[in-house]
Amino acid sequence: MDSFRIFRVLFLATVIYGKNIVVVLVDDLDLTLDGMQPLMNAQNLIGKQGATYKNCFVASPICCPNRASILTGRYQHNHHTVNNSISGGCSSKQWQSNSEKTTFATILKDKMGYTTFYAGKYLNEYGSRAAGGAQYVPPGWDWWYGLVGNSKYYDYSLSINGSAKTYGHSPNDYLTDVIKQFAVTFINGRNSNSGPFLMVLAPPAPHEPWTPAARHNDRYKNQKAKRTPNFNSPSQDDKHWLVRMGQSPLPSSVLPSLDDIYRKRWETLLAVDDLISSVYTSLRNSRLLDNTYLIFTSDNGYHIGQFSMPMDKRQPYETDIRVPLLIRGPGITPGSEVNAPVSSVDLFSTILGMGGVEAVSDGISMLSKNISDDRSVLIEYRGEHSERMPRSGCPSDDDLNLSHCSKDMACKCQDARNNTYACVRRYSKDHNNIFCIFEDDSKYIEAYDLNADEFQMSNIGYTMKKGKRHRFRKRLRELIECEGADCVRAQPMRAI
Ligand SMILES: *[C@@H]1O[C@H](CO)[C@@H](O)[C@H](O)[C@H]1NC(C)=O
Ligand SMILES: *[C@@H]1O[C@H](CO)[C@@H](O)[C@H](O)[C@H]1NC(C)=O
Repeated sequence: MDSFRIFRVLFLATVIYGKNIVVVLVDDLDLTLDGMQPLMNAQNLIGKQGATYKNCFVASPICCPNRASILTGRYQHNHHTVNNSISGGCSSKQWQSNSEKTTFATILKDKMGYTTFYAGKYLNEYGSRAAGGAQYVPPGWDWWYGLVGNSKYYDYSLSINGSAKTYGHSPNDYLTDVIKQFAVTFINGRNSNSGPFLMVLAPPAPHEPWTPAARHNDRYKNQKAKRTPNFNSPSQDDKHWLVRMGQSPLPSSVLPSLDDIYRKRWETLLAVDDLISSVYTSLRNSRLLDNTYLIFTSDNGYHIGQFSMPMDKRQPYETDIRVPLLIRGPGITPGSEVNAPVSSVDLFSTILGMGGVEAVSDGISMLSKNISDDRSVLIEYRGEHSERMPRSGCPSDDDLNLSHCSKDMACKCQDARNNTYACVRRYSKDHNNIFCIFEDDSKYIEAYDLNADEFQMSNIGYTMKKGKRHRFRKRLRELIECEGADCVRAQPMRAI
């Protein structure tokens, strides 16, 4: 073949065959407590060879609602998945007959002929009887290895193209490794002529119950939870009701458990890092790497001990709302850092853009030239209450408004019905702040200037100038009702 023909063949191949897209979506990984530390492969193979997004915020700091935002590019008030239960829209019939029909997967498959592959945790209620059981395969996915229910490491079931398969607790059953194996087998079966593919890998780490792979046990034996300046702070007078409630600081008997959770989370991440390196290597060996985008992110952040809250997400603080985001791929400058604020709702447009197609959503492609470095994004959360009388042995057992209370954690409850809020999170060269209003009896306000107060020690919601508070309120009102392009157009925001 002469060189002209070779060139023509290569040229045609890239025109005809779009880019492959691989998304690694982890469960509950923080950015602010150094959660990326164990993920050296993610940092070296994706971040350093691509872009690191420094300001990525979730649309909702909780699994199911934010996963719904990632899939659809919609804020919670538009996709209506408001909590982790079927009654709250998580894998509900309404979700299945509406939003789930227009995810980035259905669009890439139907419009661009992608082969689509999903392995791991999907939505918390996936596979339950009321959600159609394991035989239900969500639209848009050709190769389906969906985890039934919430994150687990052993003793789980996968729906494999609609047939349930049960796994036990031998080392070979470790879910992150099982996902890795499925991914590698799929990639090894492809070549540059087999057409573009979309792959989502959603390992359980570092979610509860924090079970590392046997080979990683005790790898961080001496690691302690990060003592941020707001760790176990004694007074939360200026925080909303749930955070004020109960003991602060936490009794010292609780701290070793927090240290333990922190280090085990890190240990679970080492298997994710193995997965990333294996996927990278098989893409390279199959000569697909240069034509593939790799995205790494998390469904929400996490706190451990901040403001004397034991551990969870669900709060409007940086620990919970900020997530890592790394993207490598064609056209992305290696080692670049992006300060422009982005949201989980932007992933939909970003992924579609990589596949060469556009669709309406509440976000904007992160690769777009129009992405503003002065932007305010919306964060929404609907507090979960207890559905039946819990028996935690805590005084709160009589109060169905509270949930996620545990005796081991000094009976501090992690959620409540009135832990319901909306925030506008603004980031620009000069501004870095958040303004939240709670849906409680006092319409409580929490606001922080992160440039002056990185650890959110002092709530300025009631001391800021009236005009400024007014502008924040107005902006928040616009955002909680926004739909489609208006969610992006309503910004940037002057002089807040
Ligand atoms: C799942 O479905 C895909 C697409 O039809 C097929 O290629 C693949 O072989 C199936 N996997 C299994 C394990 O049956
Ligand atoms: C989830 O949301 C639905 C609808 O608002 C509500 O009925 C249900 O009680 C919520 N579940 C929890 C655990 O808060």
